[in-house]
Amino acid sequence: MNVYDSEQIEKILAPSGYKMNSSFEVADLIIVNTCAIREKAEQKVFSFLGRLAGLKRRKPNLIIGVGGCVAQQEGDKIMERMPHVDLVFGTHAILRLPYLIERIESERCSIVDVEMSEIIEEFESITESPLDRIDPKVTSFVTIMRGCDNFCTYCVVPHVRGRETSRFPESIVGEVRGLVKTGVREVTLLGQNVNSYGKKENLNSFPQLLARVNEIDGLFRIRFTTSHPKDLSDDLISAFKDLDKLCNHIHLPVQSGSNRILKRMNRKYNRELYLEKIGKLRNNCPGIAITSDIIVGFPGETRADFEETLNLIKEVEFDSIFAFKYSDRPNAPAARFANKITEQEKKDRLQTLLNLQEYFTTKKNRVLVGSNELLLVEGLSKKKVDSDDAQSKYQYVQWTGRTETNKVVNFIQSEATIPRDRILKGKIVNVKIEKAYSHSLLGKPAQVEPTLFTLKGEQSYAA
Ligand code: 5AD
Ligand code: SF4
Repeated sequence: MNVYDSEQIEKILAPSGYKMNSSFEVADLIIVNTCAIREKAEQKVFSFLGRLAGLKRRKPNLIIGVGGCVAQQEGDKIMERMPHVDLVFGTHAILRLPYLIERIESERCSIVDVEMSEIIEEFESITESPLDRIDPKVTSFVTIMRGCDNFCTYCVVPHVRGRETSRFPESIVGEVRGLVKTGVREVTLLGQNVNSYGKKENLNSFPQLLARVNEIDGLFRIRFTTSHPKDLSDDLISAFKDLDKLCNHIHLPVQSGSNRILKRMNRKYNRELYLEKIGKLRNNCPGIAITSDIIVGFPGETRADFEETLNLIKEVEFDSIFAFKYSDRPNAPAARFANKITEQEKKDRLQTLLNLQEYFTTKKNRVLVGSNELLLVEGLSKKKVDSDDAQSKYQYVQWTGRTETNKVVNFIQSEATIPRDRILKGKIVNVKIEKAYSHSLLGKPAQVEPTLFTLKGEQSYAA
């Protein structure tokens, strides 16, 4: 969501003459978009800001702005700790940025703006026109709703992003259409709980929204995140079958395998219900990839509770997992819960859990060896593949893409199957999987699928 917000910031500042630059030294304005989800993320913000103090001394006209969730949470306390910061703006203040920065430019004042509003129209006005990029992207995030009403006891989101508010479907569809024109082929629709999209506002339901996005010409793939297990509906499960562009992957955060802990987390489902939903997904959508988030060391989590989480991992066999050590967040009720787990114990539990999951991730990847997968190529792989033959550099160009089930596959463009001048970014390529590693796969292209998705204007779209 922060990646998406940073793009909105980039867009809204363009008319004021600000352009992205990769060098701090030449920048007139540095905006630090922050995350408060875990303590570690917040610590990083302050150490990064600390490092900017010297630069500000050397360049007193430099404007330093801090936005996002830490800005919303800490407000003017950021200025107290970091006096070289000129602007603190909250999660709902993005639209006011040009005005705030103009004031700082002319008055050389410092400003804190952490006001929140629930009016989504404000937010819509920036999303319409896509960014004009030199190197167009193949995949993009699109926020469909902001805020959250669930109040899980460990979580800061409802406190820093406010109440759940959904965007209008027309506006979302318009934004996706605009992105497709720039070369985007896959969108990930974002919300804290996409299943409740539009409910409060009486708009389209989430599966209806997906069906509308599915109609967009030139778009190949749709993903979404995150779905709350308590609200995962049969309609959404059917959407995986009915909508050809919806990828066969769901991220369904379970957080814990223990009913006692789930209750203390205020997750509003139990282990049995979660497993029932997994069963339904697997029965209705064969081969669906399932990933999850897990927190270890929630206050009061006993060894037995933790074992239940491990057992759930064994029972479900997730494709992959994001696992985190619990950390106290200001305003989140669990910060005041008793029986905190020691840092060492949390570290040990995290390691045990990751080791177990590694076994299942590798196992799932190994099953794919020998099979053919359709990849959407996202770009050149960072890893260079050495060539003995200096003249055939294209022969050893390594591309990277993802399967529908969100697994990263690298492959070498070999002369035998694909002409060397074909730029594969943004194309669907049929790849035979040859090797499985724990976090990626290596494949060999069988063929590019020219007929699969023939696009208007395809020729002009280059990597
Ligand atoms: N401590 C650790 N992990 C957390 N998450 C959210 N809040 C906390 C916290 N206080 C994790 C959850 C969530 C993911 C985005 O971050 O697993 O799904
Ligand atoms: Fe946080 Fe729970 Fe909302 Fe997710 S559903 S953002 S974990 S409060």
